[in-house]
Order: sequence, then structure tokens, then C-alpha cells
Amino acid sequence: AINVHFILQVLLGDVGAGKSSLVLRFVKGQFVEFQESTIGAAFFSQTLAVNDATVKFEIWDTAGQERYHSLAPMYYRGAAAAIIVYDITNQASFERAKKWVQELQAQGNPGMVMALAGNKVDLLDARKVAAEANGKRSNGFIVQFCFGFNAHACQFDFLFSLATQEAQTYAQENGLFFKETSAKTASNVNEIFYEIGPKDYLE
Ligand code: GTP
Ligand code: MG
Repeated sequence: AINVHFILQVLLGDVGAGKSSLVLRFVKGQFVEFQESTIGAAFFSQTLAVNDATVKFEIWDTAGQERYHSLAPMYYRGAAAAIIVYDITNQASFERAKKWVQELQAQGNPGMVMALAGNKVDLLDARKVAAEANGKRSNGFIVQFCFGFNAHACQFDFLFSLATQEAQTYAQENGLFFKETSAKTASNVNEIFYEIGPKDYLE
């Protein structure tokens, strides 16, 4: 029996946030440190067998550079789902992500499913490990008073963990699925694509 389920997804987000890296991780299981900036858009597909069903992901990876902004509607209009990507080390990319969410809410598919990806979480994990090794962290909370030559790094840790909470709250308020991801370590990459993937084959 033919039992194929398609989903068309689109990735949107600031330049350098890691859209192409997330797709390459999902589709090819690869990561490159010097991924080239996308020109226009790139198309990927991934086919998975789940029990007796075939699930096909079709993914538009758009370009984050501002000069390609006017092309974006061509890619998101037909999409059933979107992943809006920001870089957790870059506040401006989070502001840009919110702008994309607004645009999709106003002009996207009415039933579009959206996910927010706070990417490059491996960079935060690296800092957490360093902070823990320095005894600045207990029970997952960050000590706000830091001394000595590491004070600057500690301050950063504090700011980044606030950003996580801010993104979580923003996602809840706007009905978005939210995950912090890493294309580098593969953390939460499959999860975020599956979460906004086809669900009907599970029934
Ligand atoms: P545009 O195509 O220009 O819109 O950018 P993009 O969103 O596709 O970003 P891209 O995937 O090209 O990644 C930009 C840079 O960030 C590359 O050098 C990647 O190697 C790096 N990068 C992407 N994801 C991660 C991640 O999860 N962790 C780390 N450490 N670096 C990442
Ligand atoms: Mg790209």
C-alpha cells in the first residue's frame, strides 16, 4: 500500500543564525565550521520510513541576507510549517526572529505551524562547563556576583540564561514550539523538525 506523507517546511532567520547548518545536520548528518552564506534559497528533502509509512520532509532553506528578504514569501506561502532560527549568542538575531514571526502571523499560511530554534546552544554549554569548573554555579542557577579575571565571562553566562527564559516566554505567548538547538552537536535538531512534521501517520 502506498502510504506517503509529505510536509513542506521553511527555515527563516537572520544571516548566520545557522539555518543551513540545521538542515544539513537533519538531512545529511553533517556539520561544517565554515558554512557559506546562502544565496537566494536552497531546497532539501529527507525521506524517513516510520512503521509502514513513508514520511517525506521537503525543506526550503532561505537566505538571511536582507537583500533576499523580498523573495521570502515565495518560500513560506506554500509551507505548512516554519522554523524561525536565531543565534543564542546574538541578541539582534533574536529581534530579527520576532520580526519573522510577525510577518508569518500577518502573511503566512493561516494554519502554519511554527517553531523557534535558539541555535548554537553548544556555545552556552561550553561556558556553563567553564563556569561550573570555576565554582560559580550551583543547582543550575548562576551566581550573579563574580570576582577576579573571570567576572566578564560570568556576566555573559548570566545574560545568556536570561535570554533563554525570554525566548521561552515569547514562544509560549505566540504559540510557537521552542527548543534550543545545536547543528554542531545535533542537540534537538531531529526533535524540532519532527515536532513540526507530519503527524497524521501516527494515527
Ligand atoms: P545565511 O545563509 O547567511 O542566512 O546563514 P545561515 O542561517 O544559513 O547560517 P549558517 O548555517 O551558514 O551558519 C553560519 C555559521 O554559524 C557557520 O560558520 C556555521 O558553522 C556556524 N554554526 C551554525 N550552527 C552552529 C551551531 O549550532 N553551533 C556552532 N558553534 N556554530 C554553528
Ligand atoms: Mg544559509
